[in-house]
Amino acid sequence: MGFLGSLFKKKAPATRPAPPQVLSWRVTTVTRETPSTISFEVDGTLDFKAGQFVLLRPTAALPWRAYSFSRAPGLPLRLTVKKVKDGQVSTHLTEKLAVGDLLEVKGPYGHFVLPSSFTRALFIAGGSGVTPFLSMLQEQQKAGWPTPISLLDFNRTGVEQILKAELDALIASSGGKLEIVHVLDDAQAGPKGPPSKDVLGALLAGQAQPDVVAMCGPQPMMDLAREAVHARFPGVTVLEEKFTMSHEESGSGATVTVELVQDGKSKPFPVKDGEHVLAAARKAGLNLSAGCEMGACGVCRVKVLSGEIHIPDDACLSDGEKADGYALVCVGTAKGNCRIEPAP
Ligand SMILES: Cc1cc2nc3c(=O)[nH]c(=O)nc-3n(C[C@H](O)[C@H](O)[C@H](O)COP(=O)(O)OP(=O)(O)OC[C@H]3O[C@@H](n4cnc5c(N)ncnc54)[C@H](O)[C@@H]3O)c2cc1C
Ligand code: FES
Repeated sequence: MGFLGSLFKKKAPATRPAPPQVLSWRVTTVTRETPSTISFEVDGTLDFKAGQFVLLRPTAALPWRAYSFSRAPGLPLRLTVKKVKDGQVSTHLTEKLAVGDLLEVKGPYGHFVLPSSFTRALFIAGGSGVTPFLSMLQEQQKAGWPTPISLLDFNRTGVEQILKAELDALIASSGGKLEIVHVLDDAQAGPKGPPSKDVLGALLAGQAQPDVVAMCGPQPMMDLAREAVHARFPGVTVLEEKFTMSHEESGSGATVTVELVQDGKSKPFPVKDGEHVLAAARKAGLNLSAGCEMGACGVCRVKVLSGEIHIPDDACLSDGEKADGYALVCVGTAKGNCRIEPAP
């Protein structure tokens, strides 16, 4: 999600966006890409940057989930979703979505966006993690392929390779600027997965020095890739988008008191050990701003006036924001009694 330590240099906006309006988009096309993946287009419009995502839910009975645009801004809006085993929303989308369906949507969100200028980029994608790269690569195509880019595209099987024909067309249009290495767990020839320290090390050894590395996919691949990139290209700027996020924690055991300072009033509420502060505030009838509710957008940012709110390393706060005492209540847990106020 972000930039960590010297490896990750996330630029944090001074102020955070207000909670976005809920939009209603009608599905205009549904295309089966692979046995477990669909793409769909919608009739909406949205000003977003290549690499960003929206939150959507197909019905009010289902939870909100994040999906990245799989096309560059300015083209008909398209999302691409892979079914996750026993997944509530991805199963609905990949098995039941039909033309004419209405979706509730919020966004755009995210900082997984290329810098305005760079000289060479390396992308690492795992499975459905290729979606934001399609958006970024199409942007590069629109700009006339100003810089060389390599993509390491990991998939379990050839059958499950997502949007491969579009990737091939991008290579053909790039005049040699785009190189894609497809890595399959079931490869009979060529690079073979799954991603491991050795596999990533060997693939990165063959890559020229980039000034930006962007990686997107499931947590285990991201952890391995981060380590391998750090070892091969020390000090390079790394952008991360992790496709698995923690959802609401209900907590148990000891209870502490968090005091919300809001509109000049003090509003204390109980929070259990391990419980997300936003969930506890809602139970107490308090209204705190929220967007993605999974540490990805920053809308729920608060200033911690005293005490400590712990947030996961992959939540979208920069080291600077953490040092300045900011936290995210949607994924934050209270370590003892605290005082917080909503951030501007
Ligand atoms: C910023 C962001 C952008 C994303 N963009 C896309 C996208 O473009 N296309 C896309 O297909 N997905 C994308 N995802 C993942 C997506 O938001 C959902 O997490 C995914 O569709 C599963 O949701 P679900 O409701 O079906 O599963 P859930 O009901 O939430 O989970 C069911 C089970 O699957 C596990 N699980 C959840 N998510 C994943 C996952 N991604 N991989 C493996 N196991 C998982 C859970 O731990 C749980 O055990 C993105 C996620 C983030 C955070
Ligand atoms: S609501 Fe998006 S980070 Fe908390």
